[in-house]
Amino acid sequence: MKNSLDYSQQELQGILQKTTDLVMQQYANIDRQDGFHDYPQAEVASWFDEPLPTEGCNAIALLDHVKQRVLDTATGNLGPNMYAYVMAGGNQISSIADFLTSTINQNATKWHLGPAMTEIEKRVIKWTADMINYTPEAGGVMVSGGSAATLTGLTVARNVFCRKFNVNQQGLFGMKPLTVYCSTETHSSTDKSISLLGIGTKQLRRIATDEQFKIDLQQLRAQIEADLAAGFTPFCIVGNAGTVNTGAIDDLAALADIAKQFDMWFHVDGAYGGLVSSLPELKAKYAGMELADSIALDFHKWLYQPFEIGCTLVRNWDVLRESYFKQADYLDTALESKTDRLEFNEHYFQLSRSAKAFKVWMSLKAYGFKQIQAMMKKDLELTRYLEKRITSAPDFELMSQSDLAIACFRYTGEQLSDEQVVNINQALIPALEKDGRVFITGTRLRGEFVLRACIINHRKTTDSIDYLLDVIRDVAQKISME
Ligand SMILES: Cc1ncc(COP(=O)(O)O)c(C=O)c1O
Repeated sequence: MKNSLDYSQQELQGILQKTTDLVMQQYANIDRQDGFHDYPQAEVASWFDEPLPTEGCNAIALLDHVKQRVLDTATGNLGPNMYAYVMAGGNQISSIADFLTSTINQNATKWHLGPAMTEIEKRVIKWTADMINYTPEAGGVMVSGGSAATLTGLTVARNVFCRKFNVNQQGLFGMKPLTVYCSTETHSSTDKSISLLGIGTKQLRRIATDEQFKIDLQQLRAQIEADLAAGFTPFCIVGNAGTVNTGAIDDLAALADIAKQFDMWFHVDGAYGGLVSSLPELKAKYAGMELADSIALDFHKWLYQPFEIGCTLVRNWDVLRESYFKQADYLDTALESKTDRLEFNEHYFQLSRSAKAFKVWMSLKAYGFKQIQAMMKKDLELTRYLEKRITSAPDFELMSQSDLAIACFRYTGEQLSDEQVVNINQALIPALEKDGRVFITGTRLRGEFVLRACIINHRKTTDSIDYLLDVIRDVAQKISME
C-alpha cells in the first residue's frame, strides 16, 4: 500500500488532462444543453447503490464513470435552457478558482491559516459594498447562500438589538416577544431564520402587498403600532430588494424610515436582486437599501458564481464580532506576531471555512465588473423580450410585471376554458420535466398557479427565449390532444 494519497506527478498529469477534456466537452455544446434528463429516481439511485468501496479503482476509469453517470446526466444549470428557481450559469474562471482553492486547501478562519485568502475576502467585501453603494465601512462575511446570509443578518440583528438583555448568555428567556415584519412575498428563508433564532414564526408578521407585490406601508405601520399596544417588541423589518416570485422591490427608503422611527433593525433581502442595483438605470428603484443595518446577497445568483456563495453585509465589523466572538484557548491570538489581522472565525459562526471569496475575486479581475453588468443588462433585456413575445402571442398570457428578470405567465391556448387553462398549466410542469428540452417551474401569485421564468444566465440569447415558448407550446398541444 502507498505511503500517501498522492499520485506520481506523471499520473496526476494524466488525471488532470482527462479532467480538462471533460471540462472542454461540457462547454463544447453548451448552447444545446437540455434543461433536464428524465431518469426515474430509482434508476439514478441504482447507479450509486454499492457498498463502501474498501479498495480503490483506477482514477481515469473513475472519471469515465463520472462522465457517464454524473456529468452527462446533470441538470442543465450551465446552459441556456434553464429557467427554474434562480439558477445562474456559473462562469469558467470561478470554477478554475474553486479548483485552485481546494488544491491549496486554505482555511479562511484565522488570518495565518490563509493570509492571502483572508485579505481577498476583506477586499471582496469592500468591492461588494462599492457595487451596491453601501457604506465603505461595511463588515461582512462570505456564507453559503442567500438563506445563510439572511440568517446571519438576523442573528446580528437580534443580538445587537437585545444587547442590554445579553441574549448570548440569557437567551430570550423572560423577554417580551420580539416581532419581525416583512411582506407576504418575502422568501421562506426569513421564516426559517426567525424560527432558528428562537423568535418563533408566530411573531413574523407577513404584511399584505400592493398590486405590484410591494409591501403595503400603511398596513405595516398599523401592525407595528398594534403590536406595541399589545405588549410585543417590534424589532426588525425585512425589506425585499427583489422578491423570488416576481422580482418586486419594496419601497426600501420608506422601510428604512419606519425602522428608524420605531427604533428597529432594518434587514434587506437582496439575495435575488441586490446586486443588479449596481446598474445605473435601476439605482433609483433601490433607494434606501444603503440605509439597511444588514443586507443578504447571493453571488451564485447575479454574479454568475458556481454554488455555493452568498454574502452578508453589515454596517461595521464590530457588530459581527459582538455576535460571533467566542474565547477558546487554542484559537487565542495573543501570542501572534502582529494583531492587525482580521480573524473570520471571530466574525462568523463557522470555524473552518472554505475560501469562497477567491472565485469572486478571480472572476471580477478576469472579466471586470463592467462585463458582468453587461450580462445582467442582457438578462433584463431578454426578460423584456420574453414579456413582449408573450403579450403579442394569442396563446400566452403575461401574469406579472417586473423591473428585474422574472416573468410569470400562463399558456392559454386559443380556445381553452378558464378551468382548462388552470389544469394545463399545472400539467405542464411534469410534462415539461419529462420532455426535458427546457427546465421551468411555477409559483402562485395571489393563489393562482403560473409558470415562472427566471432569466439569469449569460449564455442565453433571443433564440433561447423563442425556443422556450416553442417548447412550452409544443408540449401543451400534446397534452391537449391526450
Ligand atoms: C429573494 C431570495 N432570498 C433568499 C433566497 C435563498 O437563497 P439560497 O437559495 O442561496 O439560500 C432566494 C433564492 O432564490 C431568493 O430569491
